Amino acid sequence: MVNFLSFRDPQDGAFFLFEIVSGQLTALSLSIDAGDLLFGHFLASDGSNLVSNTSGLLVEAISWDPNKQLYNFYELVKDDQTQRASWFFRGDSSLILDDIQLLYRQRTAAEQPFHNQLRCSGCHVNGALIQKELAAPHNDWWTKSRPLPLDGLSPDPAVAKILQGLVDADELTKLVQAAPHRLAASSGYRKALQSRTMQEQLRPLFCAVELNIESDREPFDRKGATVEIPAAYFADPRLGAASIAISRENYEQALQQLGSSMPDPPGGADADHAWLAPVKANSDMVMTQALVEMGVVDNEFVADVLAVDFTNPLFSASRCALLKLVPTESGPDFLSRFRAALDTSSDPAAKLLLENLTDPKRDANFHHQQVAAYLDACQKKASKLLKRGFLGWLRGERGHCSMARVPTNCRRGRQAAQSGARVPGQGTHAACQPHEGHPGPARHS
Ligand code: HEC
Repeated sequence: MVNFLSFRDPQDGAFFLFEIVSGQLTALSLSIDAGDLLFGHFLASDGSNLVSNTSGLLVEAISWDPNKQLYNFYELVKDDQTQRASWFFRGDSSLILDDIQLLYRQRTAAEQPFHNQLRCSGCHVNGALIQKELAAPHNDWWTKSRPLPLDGLSPDPAVAKILQGLVDADELTKLVQAAPHRLAASSGYRKALQSRTMQEQLRPLFCAVELNIESDREPFDRKGATVEIPAAYFADPRLGAASIAISRENYEQALQQLGSSMPDPPGGADADHAWLAPVKANSDMVMTQALVEMGVVDNEFVADVLAVDFTNPLFSASRCALLKLVPTESGPDFLSRFRAALDTSSDPAAKLLLENLTDPKRDANFHHQQVAAYLDACQKKASKLLKRGFLGWLRGERGHCSMARVPTNCRRGRQAAQSGARVPGQGTHAACQPHEGHPGPARHS
């Protein structure tokens, strides 16, 4: 169960319940394993009661189709006039690839990034299961150690019965983590993927197709001495990861100075866990790794791309813009055609990627060292962070680190979608580039 608004805001009863189905369907001699069929439905408050939503969209379901080797997406919708509920098959993982054909690839402003075949593609963009707060502590989810507050709401008998079966958010996590692997390994999906252009195949490497949200592991109100910034906030985990802690005192002062406030309930300065930040999606990384396994690109190529604007691991406009220079056709001379396209561009990011792809010294090991130096500089800065410096860091701006509102059109972006809400994370952390106080490996210019 997740609170769609935020952990501490149960007033509207805006909880989403996701159910994991498994067992035997003897009549059809069918066995369903966890991960084969999941469905979601919605709660709402009715006075002081917590009840199921009984109008409009009632249930969303995703099932694994063993024949197609793809996920199918369904909805149960109630017609308000006839009061009849009907199931709709909305499409499958392959249709999602169709729907997102132009995502990050539009040539004119008039082109829409999404087609309108199934709305599921707007968020299940990689065609499988998702969970935004995939990593512990799952900020807005019910967990055994930190159940979601219901405040005064009392579940009606039907909801109470469902809530008896609540399991830890981690149970969903295991299935969500497995889902892109399952899809990427399936013959059905590989076929569908390989029939797309190279730009579409490589999109999760260059751009943020999906995203996850991570935070400090300790609840904010436990008042620990430090706040741990999620490592993926600073760098893509494939290039390097180091956990960076800052003093609680400095963090709180900075929040105060920035006037940080959570809209509901009023009075809070932060989410249930500090430094709730968007990070590179696990599914994007799995999909990219699948391309390596399929021999479409190799790990050196992946590292060369990620090293472009690496202080911006998630929303890098400059790295993502390079996708349009990727040749659409695959083939043995793909790399030389890509290099030629990069060579014709005056974009500094294109020049850097060309250098990464051409200069044998700029291999994956070189990029790892560069990121390690950067993380080291960040850690040093964190340990002697003055309030002023810290404010800039928190902001995530180029050269500073300001607070940035994360654009989200996903209804489940929760805090990120609320006006006045605070989510750090967009922008570069160039303030801790290796050259600042730490001599990083030599750079070619
Ligand atoms: C606006 C974004 C959005 C759209 C559109 C959307 N979903 Fe989801 N869905 C989510 C998020 C986010 C979760 C997981 C909850 C979380 O992380 O907060 C989820 C979870 C689910 C789950 C539970 C299994 C899982 O993936 O975790 C099912 C089933 C599901 N969605 C079905 C559907 C179907 C079917 C459609 C289309 C008819 C759809 N969804 C459209 C955002 C969306």
